[in-house]
Amino acid sequence: MKSDLTVNIKGISSFVNEEELNRISESAIEHLTALREGRGRGSEFTGWLRLPDKTVSETGTILACARRLRAQAPVTVVVGIGGSYLGARALTEALNDPFAPQEHRLLFAGHTLSEDYHAALLKFLDGTAYNIVVISKSGTTTEPAIAFRILRDHLRNKLGTPAARMHIVAITDARRGALHDLAVSEGYETFVIPDDVGGRYSVLTPVGLLPLALAGYDIDAFARGMLDMALSVREGNDTPANIAVTYAAARNTLYDMGYSTEILISYEPSLVFLAEWWKQLYGESEGKESKGIFPASVTFTTDLHSMGQYIQQGERKLFETVVHVKDSRNSLVVPGAADNSDGIGFIAGKRLTEVNHRAEDGTRIAHIDGGVPVIHVSIERIDEYNLGQLMYFFELACAVSGYVLGVNPFDQPGVESYKKNMFALLGKPGFEAERERLEQALRAKE
Ligand code: PA5
Repeated sequence: MKSDLTVNIKGISSFVNEEELNRISESAIEHLTALREGRGRGSEFTGWLRLPDKTVSETGTILACARRLRAQAPVTVVVGIGGSYLGARALTEALNDPFAPQEHRLLFAGHTLSEDYHAALLKFLDGTAYNIVVISKSGTTTEPAIAFRILRDHLRNKLGTPAARMHIVAITDARRGALHDLAVSEGYETFVIPDDVGGRYSVLTPVGLLPLALAGYDIDAFARGMLDMALSVREGNDTPANIAVTYAAARNTLYDMGYSTEILISYEPSLVFLAEWWKQLYGESEGKESKGIFPASVTFTTDLHSMGQYIQQGERKLFETVVHVKDSRNSLVVPGAADNSDGIGFIAGKRLTEVNHRAEDGTRIAHIDGGVPVIHVSIERIDEYNLGQLMYFFELACAVSGYVLGVNPFDQPGVESYKKNMFALLGKPGFEAERERLEQALRAKE
């Protein structure tokens, strides 16, 4: 199966040694085989690899739940953080018309501890009926637990406890965790995040699909996009021409040469959260054992007027991955003007997408000339199907890339450090000694 997505690495050829690239490609192919056969590190968390094969025929219950929630209220607050948040946010921001009133509005909580954010959210919710979809695989993550407690209280005060239950859906582990136990005792409708699928690889579970369906998008098309990409990159294409291998090998070759920051670039503002999702996927999967490419992102041409200067002439340790979108959903032509007083008459009559693409072409050449290698990832358009292809491509390439780097791409041991300190500082029982040590350290830094 051939995918519509293409990867072009000609923009790195003048920077890398071809033999080295070929050697790392061979390693990436071996790791792809190991991933597929469950022989790599963290293989107990590779259930996402084959999720598309079954999800395509299993979206009925999610659609039914979305219909029920949409009929109950015009707004749903999706509560979650990290992998339990970014996929849904990335998809809905990419697909939404930014100015049209939405048929069903999604709001997000649980991804921040800001008091002002939550106070403003509650103020808005005072005036509207709403549902809550609370998502946490572990069921114990602090930020969503706090947000859910606040929101549940608000909803109960508004509707009374029995009616509030009908407005709450929990997406969590099948057997364990505080959220699981609460959902069982309260009788919330519940969806399961499979044991073998980690947070940042969970967009094709109810974690991504229920919010996407609630917002009114075609989850079957998204799943088909994921499946087509899975069939293209996962199965039987163990060659350097496999685009996931190409991408994983290109970025690891650059990393070995000292290019330690990768900037994901798009020329579409609707993809800002796709970049946030990508940063989490790659940052959490690869940044460990004192290794890993630092994932950053910018949106052009907006950021050509801020970060563009650094990228063109700053420290030479950056490389770019540009997500090129071939076609826009709408057509808009730059109008002519009789007096041409703004001096842009040479652009009149051109579609804005053509201008955007020319800006992209010009920037690519300028950055390569300035010492920045460029990887080019191209998708047909921003819709559910193509986003499905793109996200599966990035997931698979990330796993292979992490293996090439020599880390377990499915764990995140470093995330625990801040949590332990926060719990101790907030006075969690059992953390008394740690609290004293931290208070002392804080005093010493005052
Ligand atoms: O990718 C991951 O595993 C993490 O980013 C988690 O998704 C995040 O920490 C939230 O965890 P949980 O779903 O258990 O609340």
